[in-house]
Amino acid sequence: MKHWYITGTDTEIGKTRVSCQLLQELRRQGFSTVAYKPVASGAVDTGDGWRNDDALQLIHASQAKIAYNVVNPWCFEEAVAPHLLAEEAGVDIDTAKMAEIVSRKPADVAVIEGVGGWLAPLDTGTSQADMARALNAGVILVVGMRLGCINHALLSVGRILDDGLPLLGWVANQIDPEMSRYQDNIDTLKARIKQPLLATIAWEENQPDFSINAIIN
Ligand SMILES: Nc1ncnc2c1ncn2[C@@H]1O[C@H](COP(=O)(O)OP(=O)(O)OP(=O)(O)O)[C@@H](O)[C@H]1O
Ligand SMILES: [Mg+2]
Repeated sequence: MKHWYITGTDTEIGKTRVSCQLLQELRRQGFSTVAYKPVASGAVDTGDGWRNDDALQLIHASQAKIAYNVVNPWCFEEAVAPHLLAEEAGVDIDTAKMAEIVSRKPADVAVIEGVGGWLAPLDTGTSQADMARALNAGVILVVGMRLGCINHALLSVGRILDDGLPLLGWVANQIDPEMSRYQDNIDTLKARIKQPLLATIAWEENQPDFSINAIIN
């Protein structure tokens, strides 16, 4: 099974949207899928328990139907940096527990969404690099295409590689519909990131093409 850890250049730049589109594309191509959001902050009480919208979207887009608290074992109510809430609650984000969960449900591909950008901590002592490593995952970086993204993207790529994680590729996701010189920015990043550009997603594009072949084998 392939484990893909989806990170981004920032919060709110399209990790969930791109993850769901990737899950749909995998299913279209006949691959079985499962998705996880190990740690989430920002949740509503449905009466059935706390639910985070990212996790619900991922469940909807993935083929394997598994219990909410397995998809999202650490769900915090307030929409703030999750390590603060984990600290306050005295909760440890247990990467070994997540690895055990991910190993339970075989599918061709497991898509795992991170939190915020790459260096957003999970708890005081646990980084997203720790999580991706424990899950034996390759990393996909979603670049939110807007002014400032070149710096964010190149810093993220450098740090993912310094952390020793395999960077499978990156996705250019246009988060600012009015971004000037959009294509020039993509070309600038293509010239500087040696891993493959897996998809270019325009603002409001609903069915992007992904170069899945580049990473599925
Ligand atoms: N290409 C796009 N076109 C139009 N809207 C987009 C696009 N990409 C993202 N969005 C919108 O931007 C918002 C943020 O996207 P999303 O929730 O996927 O970000 P995220 O990186 O997962 O955020 P978080 O850090 O909260 O997990 C959503 O409303 C989403 O629909
Ligand atoms: Mg998200």
